[in-house]
Amino acid sequence: MEERERVDRVFTGEGEIRPFEFNENVAHVFDDMAERSIPWYREVQRMITTLGLTFYRQGSNIYDLGCSTGTTMALLSQAFKERQIEDYRIIGIDNSEPMCHEAREKLRPYAQGDVTVQCADLEETAIENASVVIMNYTLQFVDPLSREDLIKKIYKGLNHNGVLIVSDKTLQSHTDTSRIFIDNYYHMKRQNGYSEMEIARKREALENVLIPYRVEEERDLFLKSGFEGVDLFFTWFNFSSFICLKKG
Ligand SMILES: C[S@@+](CC[C@H](N)C(=O)[O-])C[C@H]1O[C@@H](n2cnc3c(N)ncnc32)[C@H](O)[C@@H]1O
Repeated sequence: MEERERVDRVFTGEGEIRPFEFNENVAHVFDDMAERSIPWYREVQRMITTLGLTFYRQGSNIYDLGCSTGTTMALLSQAFKERQIEDYRIIGIDNSEPMCHEAREKLRPYAQGDVTVQCADLEETAIENASVVIMNYTLQFVDPLSREDLIKKIYKGLNHNGVLIVSDKTLQSHTDTSRIFIDNYYHMKRQNGYSEMEIARKREALENVLIPYRVEEERDLFLKSGFEGVDLFFTWFNFSSFICLKKG
């Protein structure tokens, strides 16, 4: 059977705009969508791989929460392979079955470690014996009312000297700055080949589905959940990546 192309045209159509979902259509083109919609996507992935290797401790678990198509897990697995480390354990969790399917396919070549993908909701998943927990552009999709409980659960499941790595779309402290940053973001999407209509339709679909926090609000969430060292390791206009250390 001929392979369907994997170019993101999800928002090229007309008609009713429904709330954004990580369904089969999105999962099939997600890698293209991420590369063209998330600024410096590859660089952030590379930085997360480096941080993951730095904080990983033998015998512990690495979690990728909202793993989508398994890109971060594949990069980490590749890095372990290159270092001839075989006894690692990476657990990817996502509540979208089509995403889990794509991730399992992508991870097929990395059978040397213990790499598993679980289709489950983060709110119902145990986090234990973790040295590294990654949430790359996932927390922004979690119901704000559940975020604190989730971050506290992650803190509890991390070992001493463990790390939580979070990337999200963020708002700025002043609405004027937020507006200017968002304008720059849409400019980047235009440069990456998205039409005005695609940009507008996706923005509407994400309304009330992707709920960004202000940078300070997100930092406060990590601090009040117990993390001691909370810093930004990457920022580009309205996108921020945090590193949160557990010292206690
Ligand atoms: C933007 S994508 C994450 C991208 C991915 N981490 C990467 O680096 O390419 C967000 C993912 O989180 C998943 N997700 C959102 N809310 C979730 C929840 N409550 N439980 C499990 N997965 C969730 C979605 O299905 C989606 O695959």
